[in-house]
Amino acid sequence: MKIVHVASELFPYVKTGGLADAVAALAGSLADMHHEVSVFIPGYRTVLNHPLAAGATRKLRLKIEMGDEFMSGHVQIFSPRPNLTVHLICRDEFYDRGNPYGNGERDYEDNADRFIFFAKGVVDTLRLADIQADVVHAHDWQGALVPLLLRVAERRHGLTLAMKTVFTIHNIAFQGLFAERSFHRTNLPEELNNIDGLEYYHQINFMKGGILFADRVTTVSPRYAREIQTAEFGCGLDGVVQNRGDDIVGLLNGIDTAVWNPSVDRHLPANYSAGEMSGKSVCRTALLKSHGFDPKFKGPVFGMVCRLAEQKGIDLLLANEAFFLRENCKLILLGTGEQRYEDALRDLATRAPGKIALSLKLDEAASHLVEAGADFFIMPSLFEPCGLNQMYSQAYGTVPLTSEVGGLADTVNDADADPAQGTGLTFAATAEGLADGLRRAMILFADPKRYAVVQKRGMQRDFSWKNAAYAYEQLYQDSL
Ligand code: ADP
Ligand code: GLC
Repeated sequence: MKIVHVASELFPYVKTGGLADAVAALAGSLADMHHEVSVFIPGYRTVLNHPLAAGATRKLRLKIEMGDEFMSGHVQIFSPRPNLTVHLICRDEFYDRGNPYGNGERDYEDNADRFIFFAKGVVDTLRLADIQADVVHAHDWQGALVPLLLRVAERRHGLTLAMKTVFTIHNIAFQGLFAERSFHRTNLPEELNNIDGLEYYHQINFMKGGILFADRVTTVSPRYAREIQTAEFGCGLDGVVQNRGDDIVGLLNGIDTAVWNPSVDRHLPANYSAGEMSGKSVCRTALLKSHGFDPKFKGPVFGMVCRLAEQKGIDLLLANEAFFLRENCKLILLGTGEQRYEDALRDLATRAPGKIALSLKLDEAASHLVEAGADFFIMPSLFEPCGLNQMYSQAYGTVPLTSEVGGLADTVNDADADPAQGTGLTFAATAEGLADGLRRAMILFADPKRYAVVQKRGMQRDFSWKNAAYAYEQLYQDSL
């Protein structure tokens, strides 16, 4: 099949979260399965400067209609591996910036224009380069207008650009909600600016467009597929999701075992596997040392790597200050995000000297060392569409502590409730729930034999993308 992915992140060129990993691994797996795969992303500065993109060639000139004016751009392409081509939709005014979506606390003012231009750039390229896709698969709000714009362009030009379109919701909390005047820039027929179209309480909502107009809609775990049909998790789009009924499926992400695999991980000081665990202690020592802790520390080391956002349950962690003051343990947290959380975490670290180390930065290599070196990995998310770190943690023999939501609930079994199959400790997504998880972690750690059983069981689970990629391949074939 000829498969086109449209997303705003792609590992290793641009990444702010799991979307980049998921799109890269899915596209790569499909390419390995001999499909002809193209991924379209914006030509961000980090992408154009990436050594792997150095050979990118200029392919097409674009002249994109944006309301009453035309804006120019161009497409660059390169091929990082067989069967895989990356298309960059370029326009320096929009994408030559430090970050993909905003500066620190605020989103860029022109994000509606930036991603309307991107979506139209994709559709124009499909037409001008005569790509004839079997499936066009768009991800999250930044790609969400593509299924609709594509069908409108087909009607206008009297041709077929894609047999089927698929839209994947990686996180329904980010919808691409903009002032209604942005609708004009889409050049869509006015009748789509209403309740059956993009209109959403006098604004326009890109994600709503993806959910309504793609042939198939997926999300990244079965549990999240059910959750987003409820008011609690649907972020106001639960009714729209319900309308698609059986067209919505939850397909669990996998992990890229070429990148996240302790037996080959290049970022670690030593490699290890379930059969040969000594390298894990080397990683633990290195992790403790690199944060100024005694490398011989005997108590449990808790790790965390995440965006510092409400979603990730930072408030629940902060509410458990007493645990970290009281217990003989360490917490090593790598993350960036909202200033209020950075400040609150710094305060917490000051109140618990010698116990909490913070790295408030984005650091791919460090994230691998935390995964490998910690004894437990904490993910107290309030909601989690899929979550990748709980799977990385199991692969790395780092017992995950996860709240019972979304993909976390689908991928971690509680070792106390289910001693025969447990791979982690799970709890309600509340401060008390996390307190209970932390308490049970201390008990588990005090029993090295039982800890090792839970750890090894996690390492033996198969979270590779193979299964997920087959599920998507099946979905594409069914829809065709
Ligand atoms: P989300 O996409 O909601 O942020 P996921 O669990 O799907 O959550 O994916 C997060 C990804 O981002 C993981 O690969 C994680 O290791 C990575 N990550 C998050 N924060 C950092 C950081 N500060 N440095 C390096 N990697 C990070
Ligand atoms: C989103 C979600 C996360 C998921 C990732 C990849 O960022 O927040 O749970 O793992 O997308 O699908």
